[in-house]
Amino acid sequence: GIVVSSLLKETGLVTVDPGFMNTASCESEITYIDGDAGILRYRGYPIEQLAEQSSFLEVAYLLTHGELPSSDALSGWIERIERHTHLHDNFKALIGAFPTNAHPMAVLSSAVSALPGYYPESVDPFDPETVELASVLLLAKAPTIAAYAHRRALGQEMIGPDRGKGYVGDFLRMAFQPNGTPYEVDPVMVKALDVLLLLHADHEQNCSTSTVRIVGSSHANLYASVSAGINALSGPLHGGANEAVLQMLTQIQASGGDATEFMTKVKNKEDGVRLMGFGHRVYKNYDPRAAIVKKAADEVLSKLGKRDEMLDIAMRLEEIALNDEYFIERKLYPNVDFYTGLLYKAMGFSTSMFTPLFAVGRMPGWIAQWREMMQDPATKIGRPRQIYTGPTSRDYVAAEQR
Ligand code: ACO
Repeated sequence: GIVVSSLLKETGLVTVDPGFMNTASCESEITYIDGDAGILRYRGYPIEQLAEQSSFLEVAYLLTHGELPSSDALSGWIERIERHTHLHDNFKALIGAFPTNAHPMAVLSSAVSALPGYYPESVDPFDPETVELASVLLLAKAPTIAAYAHRRALGQEMIGPDRGKGYVGDFLRMAFQPNGTPYEVDPVMVKALDVLLLLHADHEQNCSTSTVRIVGSSHANLYASVSAGINALSGPLHGGANEAVLQMLTQIQASGGDATEFMTKVKNKEDGVRLMGFGHRVYKNYDPRAAIVKKAADEVLSKLGKRDEMLDIAMRLEEIALNDEYFIERKLYPNVDFYTGLLYKAMGFSTSMFTPLFAVGRMPGWIAQWREMMQDPATKIGRPRQIYTGPTSRDYVAAEQR
């Protein structure tokens, strides 16, 4: 809606747009979404082609630099990132200082906030080489920090990177290698996690990305802006939905696995029950990411012999929904979160790690959007207006007279 405030005559028309549902905060060349048609493209490339043929780090280059790299540029980029995956020794002390029951998102955002303290030479937001270094450092350190946070929660000793294992492979190794025991990373898991990270790499002006932009608009450095984005992602309405899907599937399984009975509750809106992982503010057709994750979940879980009852329940719920008037009328289809939790679980991650995995995946998007904003001469400090609705002028009354 549009409200003209009589108190803001000097600024002319002021629009009130809660949740910024109709307000574009910027122009962007990075990600294209057509929610009605179920289309998602990074820099013009369809998400389906990228998931099938590209890799997370190549997509990270595409998003942050605007074009796909030549093969030399790609190997240079990967080599540079993998060279920086080590964390300063003091980081172990920093992460080790958290209680083991600290949520890994608190650990991740604190560690990212701390990075400029360790790399003060990489904080100038306007020097291109410095910005490139900060981008590389963030992409390099994020999986190591996330793997540390995972081990910290389990009370395990942290283990450092091994460059030969590849970016995603080494992330899995750092998370899951038992102390002092050799560990072979499963290539099926590596491919699945690479695709999941790639699918999360950018989604234009969502809550966390808008946060990164607004913090950066004050010329705060890339790390400070991204750590604010990580905190925005920590909320259950944003990054936490995949956890909620798994809880829902666990409950259905525990109460006998009857998908039809659960769907009746959803349709009757009993106790406000919603089919978690369904519906999306922008996609009013199938979320294209969900189609890719569903295929990956089906293939990976079958291949690993981990095909579990929960995947069957999820597929039954989807089948019911796709043929039911309630869901058809409201244009409710699976979103990206409907199947991701099942894959993360099959990989061995606990539910509290699902959002940190989302954060590692979204890193290229946050970096790309921040860089685009910093280079855009039209950028101004983010400063929304308001419509004041409090008391008009009144005189102070001393405490003893109130
Ligand atoms: N299950 C059952 N009914 C639903 C669902 C659902 N998941 N989602 C929406 N509806 C119904 C609403 O009850 C409403 O029905 P009504 O017209 O009879 O009142 C109608 O569909 C429209 O719903 P809104 O809440 O207005 O839709 P909105 O676009 O605001 O919400 C949202 C989108 C928040 C994603 C919603 O669909 C939802 O809560 N989904 C479940 C949570 C979820 O999966 N979130 C992840 C989003 S994706 C991401 O963040 C990566």
